Amino acid sequence: MSARRGPLAPLDHHTLEKYESIWLGVAVTMVALLFVGVLASMITGTMPLIASSGGQTGHSMGISKAGRVDPTKLAATPFANPGLVQNEDGSLDAWILAGNFTFQPGVLRVPAGKPVRIHVTASDVVHGFQVTGTNLNTEILPGHVASMTVTFRHPGEQHVICNEYCGTGHHNMITRFIVEPPRE
Ligand code: CUA
Repeated sequence: MSARRGPLAPLDHHTLEKYESIWLGVAVTMVALLFVGVLASMITGTMPLIASSGGQTGHSMGISKAGRVDPTKLAATPFANPGLVQNEDGSLDAWILAGNFTFQPGVLRVPAGKPVRIHVTASDVVHGFQVTGTNLNTEILPGHVASMTVTFRHPGEQHVICNEYCGTGHHNMITRFIVEPPRE
C-alpha cells in the first residue's frame, strides 16, 4: 500500500485494477471449485438426481436404466404393489411409493443382516425419505426412482419420515420399518 489517504480520497486507477484482479481471481476459483464439486458428486453418486447407489433398477418393468419412470404409469411398475419382494436369486427389493401424504406400504418388514435394495419414487410432488437415526436420506422426485442398498444390522423398529415440505399433510408423512431377527 502507498501513502495514507483521507477517507474520501478516490482510489487511483492502479489500485482499482489490483482489486479487480483479486476479485476476478476469487470468482474464477469459486467457479472452478463448484465445477469440481459437481463433477465429484456425479462420479461418486452422492447427487441423487443423477446416479443412485446400486443403480440396479434397470431390470424392472417400466423403469429405465437411469431410474426414470413415468409417474402416471406406476401401475405398470413394481410400485403398483409396494412392499418387499424376494427375487429368484434370494436378493431382496423393497418398493416404496410416496404420495398423497403417505408412504406405501404402511409398514415394511425387512430381515436384519441381509442387504435390501430400497427403491422409492413419488406419485405426485417432491417428498423426502429419511430413516431416522441413520444416514439413509434421499429426495423423492416424481419421475425418478432413487435406489439404495441397505443392510439393517439390528432387529427393531426404524421410523421413516418425509423431510421435505410437500403440503398440508407433510407432518403426517411417516412410516415404519420393522427389522426382524434373521431366520436361521
Ligand atoms: Cu411428503 Cu413432506
